[in-house]
Amino acid sequence: MVVRRRQGYRFQVWRLKISVFDALKTIPFQYQFLKPHKMKLFLKIGGLLIGLLLLGYAYIQFAPSKSFDLPYSEFELSTDSTVLERGKYLVYGPARCSECHTQETEGAVAFVKKEGLSPLAGGHVFHTPIGEIYAKNITSDNETGIGKLSPGAIARTLRHAVNSQGHVMVPFMKYTHLSEADMVAIISFLKAQAPVSNPVPKSDYNLMGNMALKFFLKPHKKTKPIIKDIKPSLDLDYGAYLTHEVTGCGSCHTTFNMDKMEYDGVPLAGGGDFVGKEHIFRPPNLTPDPKTGHITNWTEAQFVSRFRAGKVFKDSPMPWENFGLMKDDDLKAVYRYLQSLPPHENDMGLVVRAIAEEEE
Ligand code: HEC
Ligand code: HEC
Repeated sequence: MVVRRRQGYRFQVWRLKISVFDALKTIPFQYQFLKPHKMKLFLKIGGLLIGLLLLGYAYIQFAPSKSFDLPYSEFELSTDSTVLERGKYLVYGPARCSECHTQETEGAVAFVKKEGLSPLAGGHVFHTPIGEIYAKNITSDNETGIGKLSPGAIARTLRHAVNSQGHVMVPFMKYTHLSEADMVAIISFLKAQAPVSNPVPKSDYNLMGNMALKFFLKPHKKTKPIIKDIKPSLDLDYGAYLTHEVTGCGSCHTTFNMDKMEYDGVPLAGGGDFVGKEHIFRPPNLTPDPKTGHITNWTEAQFVSRFRAGKVFKDSPMPWENFGLMKDDDLKAVYRYLQSLPPHENDMGLVVRAIAEEEE
């Protein structure tokens, strides 16, 4: 039975060959290099090319990731309650670790539950064009969380976007110039949390993702010295610190050039579109330009109450819940800093457009 089936199969292949060669006779003159006797050569070259492509593919998918030799120093965790309180505030508020590292997020959904703050057990998956990226469990669980990672290694991840093995990561997190004191506060708080066992799958990158990770993405570099400590105040330098090093307003409110893989817009003068479930969002111009600045005419009180109001559009990517937990004075410091920027004229058009309207 098996043999007969095989014979039938061979016969079919042979028939197919005949008809292919018959068909070749009818093709226009300029393609006559495909004549049967040249066909073998053609197939050989084609085969070689396909082989090379497959090799290239295998190389990109399976080549080991490069390790970046970024030294880090270990430091002592703090158990001081003021330091832990500061860490918790940063993690759930302005530094918004909880925006991504909680399971029940859908983008950045409410993490403030009636009973308190949800654990940072990870598991949220970002569906991106370069693969499925899972935010990790950052509770102190030894097996599934960061229990076994040293404080120095975690600090290196936050400053340079390399993971605990020193491999570069897709830059979701940029805390390169966080003050030393805030770094100690964040990591001490993370390590002091109750462990939650939640095995999170490894991120799954496609060919483009692997290419980016293995050949193009570079760790974040320090471009200025790390400050030891900076005390909260309404001063412009504290506002600048919160805006640039902690909250990352500029990461969305600045234009990013996909070809050059870098920000090339004027900082905070408006950013690229986000496509939500029902709307397309365009982060507005936050510089105090009289014509095109989105908050030029807002008072400080209006700015603070806008942050207290939270999300107006459910599918907005702006982490309103996290920023809504910021202290009044911190929001004021950000406001004052933004209003002190050089005005930049940049008409961003509508901030929110319904997707249905767009299609009409
Ligand atoms: C915008 C989303 C986002 C924010 C905000 C964010 N993270 Fe992450 N984080 C991720 C993702 C995604 C990964 C996993 C990336 C990967 O698989 O390479 C990750 C990985 C990590 C890791 C694991 C690194 C390793 O060795 O595997 C640590 C630790 C971490 N984050 C801590 C933090 C802390 C602390 C904060 C806040 C100060 C924070 N993250 C804020 C998205 C985020
Ligand atoms: C993850 C991306 C992201 C980050 C980070 C971010 N924004 Fe936004 N922002 C947006 C988007 C998108 C919109 C438009 C949609 C909306 O209003 O919810 C927006 C809107 C705004 C608005 C206009 C709101 C209104 O009702 O008119 C203000 C003001 C603003 N952002 C300020 C800030 C400040 C200040 C920070 C840093 C503390 C910040 N944003 C961080 C993406 C972001």
